[in-house]
Amino acid sequence: MITKDMEQKLIAFAKEAQEKAYVPYSKFAVGAAILTDAGDFFTGCNVENISYGLANCGERTAVFRMIAEKGPQAKIKAIAVTTKADIPCPPCGACRQVIQEFSTPETLIIYKGPKGYTTVSMDQLLPGAFTEFVALDHTGSSTRIQKGM
Ligand code: THU
Repeated sequence: MITKDMEQKLIAFAKEAQEKAYVPYSKFAVGAAILTDAGDFFTGCNVENISYGLANCGERTAVFRMIAEKGPQAKIKAIAVTTKADIPCPPCGACRQVIQEFSTPETLIIYKGPKGYTTVSMDQLLPGAFTEFVALDHTGSSTRIQKGM
């Protein structure tokens, strides 16, 4: 849980980051702001590229900044996503998976839905997430690989 004040603070931080977006192609500026379990804040914006597929979303920029600054144990308590455009902007599928990697069951995602800002849990945003697989080595023996391990 986070307070309404904290939600507003994260939205304000995300909007600030959104102003830095590099979006000469789509003109669709996105900002994101993370509150970590440890109480630190990280922000990000989308960064596009003339080779369109290389665009990096605002959410992923914020997550990668968090890990680069705090290391692999960092966890997202809440993340807010904002846009300049007056339309809903839920995190894209790729961002959902990347946010999930550093989430706990309590992680909250705040984004602009059809009826204003809405807050959902990670599980609501990405139900049944991909979090483990089985790797086979050349001898045929299998190892279960789980998220973060
Ligand atoms: N975008 C984000 O930054 N986050 C999302 O979750 C969805 C899309 C960006 C990518 C691109 O720069 C622009 O929005 C239009 O797709």
